[in-house]
Amino acid sequence: PSTALVDEAGVVAVGGVPVTDLVAEHGSPLYVLDEADLRSRARAYREAFVAAFAEIGAEVDVYYAGKAFLSVAVARWMHEEGLRIDTATGGELAVALRAGVPGAEIGLHGNNKSDEELERALAAGVGRIVLDSLEEVVRVAAAARARGVRAPVMVRVTTGVHAGGHEYISTAHEDQKFGLSIAGGQAERALHAVLQHPELELVGIHSHIGSQILDPAGFEEAARRILELRATLATTTGHLVPEVDLGGGYGIAYLPGEVPIDPQQVARDVARTVAAVCRTQGTSVPRISIEPGRAVVGPAGITVYTVGTVKPVTFTDEDESPRTRTYVSVDGGMSDNLRPALYGARYHAVLASRGSVADAVTSRVVGKHCESGDVVVHEVELPVDIARGDLLAVPATGAYGRSMASNYNMVPRPPVVAVRDGDARVLVRRETEDDLLALDLG
Ligand code: LLP
Repeated sequence: PSTALVDEAGVVAVGGVPVTDLVAEHGSPLYVLDEADLRSRARAYREAFVAAFAEIGAEVDVYYAGKAFLSVAVARWMHEEGLRIDTATGGELAVALRAGVPGAEIGLHGNNKSDEELERALAAGVGRIVLDSLEEVVRVAAAARARGVRAPVMVRVTTGVHAGGHEYISTAHEDQKFGLSIAGGQAERALHAVLQHPELELVGIHSHIGSQILDPAGFEEAARRILELRATLATTTGHLVPEVDLGGGYGIAYLPGEVPIDPQQVARDVARTVAAVCRTQGTSVPRISIEPGRAVVGPAGITVYTVGTVKPVTFTDEDESPRTRTYVSVDGGMSDNLRPALYGARYHAVLASRGSVADAVTSRVVGKHCESGDVVVHEVELPVDIARGDLLAVPATGAYGRSMASNYNMVPRPPVVAVRDGDARVLVRRETEDDLLALDLG
């Protein structure tokens, strides 16, 4: 599941630079992004969807979901690759604007946007504000009126389609905080409310059905339900909503042998469904947008750690039989990758600083934080001679690693270094203890 390559000496390299050199220069732990790989994944999604929907006469916009990982350089690269930027907060909006992304190519999400965030979005002239409640319809209309502008808005609906990985990230089932329910009638009510406000321009209906989805069927079903809502609204109001956003959620491979969703296949399947439904309805095909985050940046990033304590632990398993597992402690952990602790997410790890012909033993890679759930890799075969000072690389950490990192135990967050054609460049510098102490007013 990785972009990294291993050279003859057994050293892992990204973008032509050995991780041993990267750590010598930038320290450990370290997030490493492969710029070429990141760009090519962005292009792959854009081209797959543009091509599949061109066949049915529809245009497509791809929004990169900045929550997965956003920095000024990454926002600029996405813009250069023809993607727009999906933001969920004022902070993400600020990064996209700093990168020079035009406001019109930025979307703003959020189930609880502050007045200030709405003001900033309108001031920036964002291309869409995705409304998430009935009261927000009124608030955005008031803010637009005060500014003397017309705000382009989408209404986020819940389709009842439930897809994806862990329960916490499956958002489209009904009992959760996002969106307005189609089945419950709130979606239609919100759409009517938008149409009654002259300060609002209804540009689309939005749905995001979950994350780490490996089966295209959920996207097709969501599209079908949204198109039904769109047709109903056209009948009752005469307004045919021009765009449908199908959200993000495209799943990636985290472990060897796992198969990611194929953008070309989803694009083809969804385009076929959209064409068929619109043909039956006698409606024109809408403009389509999608918001991939993980699938663009996840596989393009690895985390490099330095091994510290290695310790065999003997325990008794469920069958009362004695077992031994090697615990390999590294210099990071749940502060730089919360996903194992939060979602039980599984990762892989490889010895990255040298080759080894030693036997493999079942190992668990753990962090340096003060709790036993601080696991980096639950179970992995590592050479028995692994030792203090070795480097470990954990693939597929480009999404939701740095972006969900914390300072737990007052640990400064690692830098993000991007590598391309043999050159490395720091995108986000390493935090220092002084950075953390600067916030502490004593
Ligand atoms: N659009 C909307 C409205 C979203 O809520 C999300 C993710 C995306 C797009 C991008 O989804 P992606 O393509 O990256 O799956 N922290 C979790 C993932 C949370 C996703 C939340 N929303 C994780 O580490 O798995």
